[in-house]
Amino acid sequence: MADARPFQWEYRPAPVAREQYRIEGGRPLGGRVAISGSKNAALKLLAAATLTGERCRFENVPEIEDVRVMAETLRELGVVVDHPAPNVYEVAAGDIDWLFVPLEAAARMRASFILLGPLLARRGQVIISNPGGDRIGRRPVNFHVDAMRALGAEIDYRYGYYYAKAPGRLRGAEIRFPTVTVMGTENALLAATLAVGHTTIEPAAREPEVDDLIAFLRKMGAEVERTAPDRIEVEGRRRLRGAEHRVLPDRIEAGTFVVAAAVTGGQVRLEGAPCDHLGAFLEVAGRVGVGIACGSDWIEVDGRALAADGYRATDIETAPYPGLATDLQPPTCVLLTQAVGTSRVHETVFEDRLEWLAELARMGADVTVHDAHHATIRGRTRLRGATTEIGDLRAGASLILAALAAEGESVVRGAHHVERGYENIEEKFRALGARIERQPEIPPGERP
Ligand code: UD1
Repeated sequence: MADARPFQWEYRPAPVAREQYRIEGGRPLGGRVAISGSKNAALKLLAAATLTGERCRFENVPEIEDVRVMAETLRELGVVVDHPAPNVYEVAAGDIDWLFVPLEAAARMRASFILLGPLLARRGQVIISNPGGDRIGRRPVNFHVDAMRALGAEIDYRYGYYYAKAPGRLRGAEIRFPTVTVMGTENALLAATLAVGHTTIEPAAREPEVDDLIAFLRKMGAEVERTAPDRIEVEGRRRLRGAEHRVLPDRIEAGTFVVAAAVTGGQVRLEGAPCDHLGAFLEVAGRVGVGIACGSDWIEVDGRALAADGYRATDIETAPYPGLATDLQPPTCVLLTQAVGTSRVHETVFEDRLEWLAELARMGADVTVHDAHHATIRGRTRLRGATTEIGDLRAGASLILAALAAEGESVVRGAHHVERGYENIEEKFRALGARIERQPEIPPGERP
């Protein structure tokens, strides 16, 4: 029976039709919510499993669209990806038939570019679509490409694809990034584990998800160490072995639920929540006046100050870890609409992360966007139910938060963006007492 295939638990594919959330706001949330595994860790761990031909097993993998896209992309390359139970994935990359990651994968998920490093290191070549092209956004991948070149890869760019080759094996190198990059660090790290000799990566991203990846690589037999807060060193190995790993909890999902409790004036306990990884964010929440208590793996949020004196305005600035995560900037902005006074927002990491504030303004928020990096929020405003359109994942979750806080009914269109990265978000909010349902999108002309 040793080679009998395990029972396949298959997640129901997301419906193709566009859906929207209908939310009746103004109800304080209360109760407990379990925090899922981290999206940004799970995607890289699945990619790391292609560094070996042996089977790898992951638990606490979030059931989200991005993970499904990564699993499908790997299967198309000939990798065996099993999904034997909810939140469990097994990857066996004994054979990799194709070394071609198509535009379709890149268009659906920018993180598919994380396959560049491991495929190049393991098989010596890969053709991979550029996810940073005009067609799907403006986030570049030049740091990743330069890092692979430093490791000895030859890379040409033609017709939207990178053609990458490593004559012989990759060679260890000193990689210096112009600025901190999370996936750039991870791509370089993955490639270096199978390179000949020593690699130093500086400045290396310090995000907890990078350390989760390092922990898994070490279980695979890789020689990797963070030798300084922003330096990672790798001694390449000829081969790695299969390993098992439990994905760390999603600090961004946790931060989202902290804001949900705060802006509805509720009281919520987050179970399995990574308090240690939310330092800068929880410091802001506390400064604003949200009650926060932390245990080893739980966070209690008390938003009752909202009904009493309201929250206090504060200035925020995003930064690479351990600074305030750019992924938590949109939820924090929703929190600041409920703070009395003027708050200034400085988004230092991305150029396009303040655009969503125009949608928040449709709900009555008093927001001024000064340029690509600066905005001002004046509060406290009573948000009103409205119809809004989700443009991306984090903005989407934040529009739901605003709708939960708002008086009256809201329609938040483009649910698929949120499902890319949040597991069962609608059920989780409902279990906390929210009135939220998902339904087919009503075309604009037919809106009530
Ligand atoms: C990751 C996270 C994303 C998070 C971001 C910052 C994943 C799948 N995504 O994205 O959720 O918001 O970190 O914490 O883990 N840059 C370049 N050239 C490059 C790469 C990056 O110019 O080749 C720039 C980016 O445009 C950005 C900055 O560097 O301004 C940092 O981006 P980076 O840390 O690389 O973000 P991601 O790893 O893509």
